[in-house]
Amino acid sequence: MPAPTDSQAVGGDALAREVARRRTFAIISHPDAGKTTLTEKLLLYAGAIELAGAVRGRRTQRHAVSDWMEMEQQRGISISAAAVEFELQGHHVTLLDTPGHQDFSEDTYRTLLAVDSVVMVLDAAKGVEPQTMKLFEVCRARGIPVLTFINKLDQPALDPFELLDQIERVLGIAAAPMNWPLGDGPGFRGVYDLDAHTVLLFERQQGGRRMEPLMVAAPDDEAVTALVGADRQRALIEAVAMISGAGTRFDEAAYRAARQTPVFFGSALNDFGIEAFLHALLGLAPPPGPRETADGELVAPTDPGFTGFVFKIQANMNPRHRDRVAFLRICSGKLTKDMPVQHARLDTTIRLTRVYRFFGRDRETVPEAFPGDVVGIVNPGRMAIGDTLFQGRPVQFPAIPQFPSEQFATLRPGDVRHKRFDEAVEQLAEEGLMQVFYPVSGIRNPILGVIGALQFDVIEARLRAEYGIECSVDRMAHTAARWPVRNGQDVEGPLALPLSGVVQATDHLGRQVLVFQSAWELRYTAEKNPEVEFLASR
Ligand code: G4P
Repeated sequence: MPAPTDSQAVGGDALAREVARRRTFAIISHPDAGKTTLTEKLLLYAGAIELAGAVRGRRTQRHAVSDWMEMEQQRGISISAAAVEFELQGHHVTLLDTPGHQDFSEDTYRTLLAVDSVVMVLDAAKGVEPQTMKLFEVCRARGIPVLTFINKLDQPALDPFELLDQIERVLGIAAAPMNWPLGDGPGFRGVYDLDAHTVLLFERQQGGRRMEPLMVAAPDDEAVTALVGADRQRALIEAVAMISGAGTRFDEAAYRAARQTPVFFGSALNDFGIEAFLHALLGLAPPPGPRETADGELVAPTDPGFTGFVFKIQANMNPRHRDRVAFLRICSGKLTKDMPVQHARLDTTIRLTRVYRFFGRDRETVPEAFPGDVVGIVNPGRMAIGDTLFQGRPVQFPAIPQFPSEQFATLRPGDVRHKRFDEAVEQLAEEGLMQVFYPVSGIRNPILGVIGALQFDVIEARLRAEYGIECSVDRMAHTAARWPVRNGQDVEGPLALPLSGVVQATDHLGRQVLVFQSAWELRYTAEKNPEVEFLASR
């Protein structure tokens, strides 16, 4: 085991200070609720304006999946950059990108493993939508604290109590309003800060206009009447009475324990309520906390021994160089350039010589990084998603679970050398874009397994754009892949299959995999092979 280097010996206080000022989060939402717009406005406040411009490109990406690979300019920030970082009021903020796919994507799930808190954006007219529910489930399972931003108050909205009730009923988490909307749609006048007793007035104008909050004594203050009119004031007085009577009051400990979500109303497009929200985020969102290892021990971020794990791999960050980047979330200690670390799975020492931060198409060397930070390791060799790196005391973080594929297709290459095609498929599989199985009989074109069908378009487009390989994707009727295991061992020989529709294949490690058309087919095969277990993931 290598001894910690000098550069690694960061003083305990210095490390604790760096940890305390870090905020690493992601934004989750149902498509169109306003995630991109909110990201853009947050970055504007942070002064990262040129980045904010680049975020806009992501919309185009979402609307035209097949040509996003050609949009080199947008591509930088849209799908390649795993994170944007900025300094604000003494905080070091890292916002991790959750890809805005329509389908639930594993990439998003893995990103949520790398954050310390989450911002959930809801559309005020729609409330809790299906994608919100799926993503929130992941946050709940991991106990991630969630701040809620209810967006688009400038448009006709659901009643604020109905929105809070939906969060509580559908998501099963207490919702504590932090501000209260004064009207909605054409009658929207602003929000009342329930804690500071201020009115933030809304002025309808292109792109919004930043205004200072106005101090008032209480909801029934005459100043409020003058600002928002008697009707809205009456509604506010009633709402405040209800909130202080039966409503959920903000409780920081409950938020940190993921039992309560503070709720803010505003309008991202109009730049309204964003500044207050960003301040709340800096003030409330937790810094990096301890992480559990596979052995159930806790690694504190202030442990001097460096640890981190790979949560994302991206091939062809720079198409001219054909490089591969492993994105590492640092969990404890300090990372310094050229530092030797242990690769837990491979049990080897590697030197972190090519560690970068990415901003769009630009990259810059990282001299040092701290818990909560995300860095990219360029051409990391045999690094895979979920791998742990450490220095000093051996640490292994839990494996990142893979979700069972639900859609399958055969990938047929056009005129291309086999080696090149296999390499390309292998690289994309390493990114976790899809599972790959090879049928044991017939033509050995790979079978791809994904969760959402959109992924097939992404794979096809990337093979064309990044590798110059034309492919056709032939969709299959199959819906599930299973690994047969007997007495805890992989089933070696071919299994007796009672049905002809089941495809017998192998995975990238040569293990037997069966691909079924239906749940019934799977059940029937299992009944005929009672001594065999059919595992949904490995
Ligand atoms: P997403 O990333 O969550 O998918 O949502 P995005 O920010 O792309 O926003 C979806 C649409 O909602 C966009 O309109 C955006 O302008 C609009 N929007 C976002 N915030 C607000 C808001 O506070 N008020 C109103 N009225 N609209 C908002 P679009 O027509 O799809 O795109 P664009 O033509 O504006 O670019």
